[in-house]
Amino acid sequence: MTLENKLQVVTGGTSGMGLATAKALSEFGPVLIGGRNEERLNNALEELKSEGIEAYGKTCDVSKPESLKEFADYAETIAPIGSLINAAGVDFDVASPEAIVKINMLGTHYVLEAFIDKLDDSTVVNFSSITGYYYPAKPEDFEVWMNPDSDDFIEKTLELVPPIQDQRAAHLGESYMPYCCSKRFVMYYTMANTQRVAEKNNSRIISIAPGSFMTPMLATQEENLEIIRKGTAFKRLGEPDEMASLIKALLSPGHEYLTGCDIIMDGGKYATSMIKQME
Ligand SMILES: NC(=O)c1ccc[n+]([C@@H]2O[C@H](COP(=O)([O-])OP(=O)(O)OC[C@H]3O[C@@H](n4cnc5c(N)ncnc54)[C@H](OP(=O)(O)O)[C@@H]3O)[C@@H](O)[C@H]2O)c1
Repeated sequence: MTLENKLQVVTGGTSGMGLATAKALSEFGPVLIGGRNEERLNNALEELKSEGIEAYGKTCDVSKPESLKEFADYAETIAPIGSLINAAGVDFDVASPEAIVKINMLGTHYVLEAFIDKLDDSTVVNFSSITGYYYPAKPEDFEVWMNPDSDDFIEKTLELVPPIQDQRAAHLGESYMPYCCSKRFVMYYTMANTQRVAEKNNSRIISIAPGSFMTPMLATQEENLEIIRKGTAFKRLGEPDEMASLIKALLSPGHEYLTGCDIIMDGGKYATSMIKQME
């Protein structure tokens, strides 16, 4: 696996964990960041360049295949693809169920489709979430998820999403379960494309499930932050740089056998909430 002087592509690279990851991966080669908002893109580019990073930027919307085609074609003009970090995503407190399916689910599919033929000994990293582990995926879900290009993918996906079971979580709103579903899909989709990606000269694909990281996405959940902190083993949120550091380590030489899996980085949130702890 060679990353040196290859391009590190980061969708959602204009903010939070994506931006932190773009910075960390710049040690390997030039970086290309993408996002929808042009002003945010320009600010992030300025920040990267001010640190002496060879950075490129282009607006893109991962829910639109044609936008991703332009993004991927541009990427190819810079350098061969070393890594493709798909950090673009929206959260349940700001997005409708439909937008969540379009961006978090179909976006993951469209990003891979746009880049698959450009992968060559490259690594793809998708962002799932610890919330994906709370989604009770059924065989019917997988049947729908197998065909992300079907015309009724959004409707069929949402039809199968159950309401919030635990009424103590009702305040999380109507998009919460679709969000959990979208992140469970990211894990599934990553695994379902392992063989296809490997055929691109031993390219790898993994997903990472963050717990709660202090990014602009979480800033909108101010009232829940104390509960979130308490729900981890370390009683704190993760920092974007910690995620960037994990991704950089996983991309470094020596991890060539790692593919087709989801890696949890959540400060022990899932373990302490779901598994009875030994005393
Ligand atoms: N923060 C957490 O605690 C946490 C926990 C679990 C999972 N995650 C996941 O981790 C990833 C990164 O999260 P973060 O907290 O770093 O988020 P963030 O700071 O809110 O950044 C999200 C990024 O995605 C971009 N984006 C959103 N929709 C897009 C679209 N349709 N097309 C292209 N870019 C789009 C945003 O830019 P524009 O808005 O300008 O497009 C922004 O650059 C997300 O997938 C998120 O779901 C985060």
